[in-house]
Amino acid sequence: MRSVKSISLLLTATALLAACAVSGPAAVDKPVSPRLGKAVTEQSLAAWNIDVRTTDGLGLPAGSGSVAAGKLVYEAQCLACHGADAKGGTMFGPMVGGIGSFKTNTRMLTVGSMYPYAPILFDYVRRAMPLTAPQSLSNDETYAVSAYLLHLNGLIPESAVMDRTSLAAVRMPNRDNFFVDTRPDTQAVRCLSNCPLISAKN
Ligand code: HEC
Repeated sequence: MRSVKSISLLLTATALLAACAVSGPAAVDKPVSPRLGKAVTEQSLAAWNIDVRTTDGLGLPAGSGSVAAGKLVYEAQCLACHGADAKGGTMFGPMVGGIGSFKTNTRMLTVGSMYPYAPILFDYVRRAMPLTAPQSLSNDETYAVSAYLLHLNGLIPESAVMDRTSLAAVRMPNRDNFFVDTRPDTQAVRCLSNCPLISAKN
């Protein structure tokens, strides 16, 4: 009996080893998927495809918003960090005034001073604000709050409504005061093939 039992154990063990021998190498040879995820759809890509050509507003979405509607958006979603009337708050300094300050030693990074083209304001707010929930505003809310900030900067009347056409038509005070830096050490030539090795300077 004993020997029969050990033989059957032995057979079982051999069978198991054989099974391992069959499945082992096969598992190693099987190509491992890189698991790159699923193909992106046009629909999901559209949410990221929000570039705006800031010089003329090409790519701005449909929708519109008034200064009055923008004041409500601002007070509910922006005031806590940017302060009443965008004069400066807990998280950022003033977003109004400062027009002409680029010529002085105390330059002010305000909407009226810092943006050569008004569509930049829409693009920035749509992408980045409110800081805690970027891209949560609708296009109408983004147009509206842009209108409110432009109005506070004295650039459009209180009755103004901003949309893709009227926003691009707003002339920013510093439009012609930005220039391309032509110093040689700021020039970068784009290279996509056979590029020279960049030597470490430090
Ligand atoms: C939680 C705080 C917070 C909230 C809420 C918030 N912001 Fe900001 N905002 C910031 C900070 C911080 C910066 C500076 C970011 C940087 O320089 O990278 C900034 C920068 C900006 C700028 C660029 C500065 C300029 O003068 O052009 C604009 C425009 C702006 N915010 C608009 C808004 C609007 C509109 C809202 C509401 C829809 C909003 N923010 C809500 C914190 C906030």
